Amino acid sequence: MRIVSGIQPTGNLHLGNYLGAIRNWVRMQDEVTATGGESLFFLADLHSLSDHIDRDVRLASVRDMTAALIACGIDPAKSILFNQAAVPAHAELCWLLNGTARMGWLNRMTQWKDKAGKNREGASIALFDYPVLQAADVLLYQATHVPVGDDQKQHLELARDIATKFNTDTGVDLFTLPEPFIPPAAARIMSLRDGTAKMSKSDPSDMSRINLSDPDDAISQKVRKAKTDPEPLPSDPMGLAGRAEAANLVSIYAALADSDTATVLGEFGGSQFGPFKAALADRLIERITPIRERYEALRGSPELDRHLQDGAARARAVAAPTLARAYDALGL
Ligand code: ADP
Ligand code: NA
Repeated sequence: MRIVSGIQPTGNLHLGNYLGAIRNWVRMQDEVTATGGESLFFLADLHSLSDHIDRDVRLASVRDMTAALIACGIDPAKSILFNQAAVPAHAELCWLLNGTARMGWLNRMTQWKDKAGKNREGASIALFDYPVLQAADVLLYQATHVPVGDDQKQHLELARDIATKFNTDTGVDLFTLPEPFIPPAAARIMSLRDGTAKMSKSDPSDMSRINLSDPDDAISQKVRKAKTDPEPLPSDPMGLAGRAEAANLVSIYAALADSDTATVLGEFGGSQFGPFKAALADRLIERITPIRERYEALRGSPELDRHLQDGAARARAVAAPTLARAYDALGL
């Protein structure tokens, strides 16, 4: 088993990134490496070209995100941790796959449609081609499994289509078709200010999200001020219907407790939000404080560059044979 996943090095990590993605990476890393497989995680700095980001900001973000991932439990001794730009094979294979990918396939990508909006003419080619680079990211390493959230399933399907067409067109059985790995409790964490919007770094209100860099008192305050309704908590999950904010807080609690909403409501059903929020804040602080402390200790450390250089060297070695075969299959 070989798993590959990437994350854009933009901004701080928030609770949604942690519970929806990074925590599963850590679990998979531990499982995969315990059974003789490999895990590769990368900072998707080439992908970040589809946004306007200042040079120095991009440089710092890659290092900060590396520190954050290590603080969350990604272990450079277990996983291959690197930034995409340090492994030129990503960009090279993307270009080779651009000969295989079809305009029509990319035009159907909902993320492209959402992000380009009405301004297709003004959108960058990088934004349009983003899913092809993503295909290269995983095919390059012959990934067997790719952890994907809901929003990325369509892109993984596309990667499989590209791999199939490349293999068929060239007659070379080169690329492994990666399987989606959808984590069991694929938590989708919503904003603390609006239970119908995703918790996101792009929300202008900092009160809408819990950042992994938030001090304890900020965590408590954000939970205390989180939007709720006047009813007490229901005693079973059915009672959460139509109560998006309450449902979100309960599912955050369940995710942190490695439990489920029914169990959490078994404990807190009938209770007012005051005591429940206090218990939730305690759980959050218990989880986030050690991550924040490790992050602060690592941030700015020269150790990060060493980890990234080492990870990139290992990634280049894994990628090299597949890239060479791809060139050869195309007569290049
Ligand atoms: P953001 O939405 O804050 O810009 P990204 O798009 O950079 O976050 O997502 C990074 C990773 O975190 C992705 O795997 C994504 O699925 C996951 N993720 C982001 N926001 C959430 C959320 N609110 N709930 C669950 N997972 C999330
Ligand atoms: Na996003």
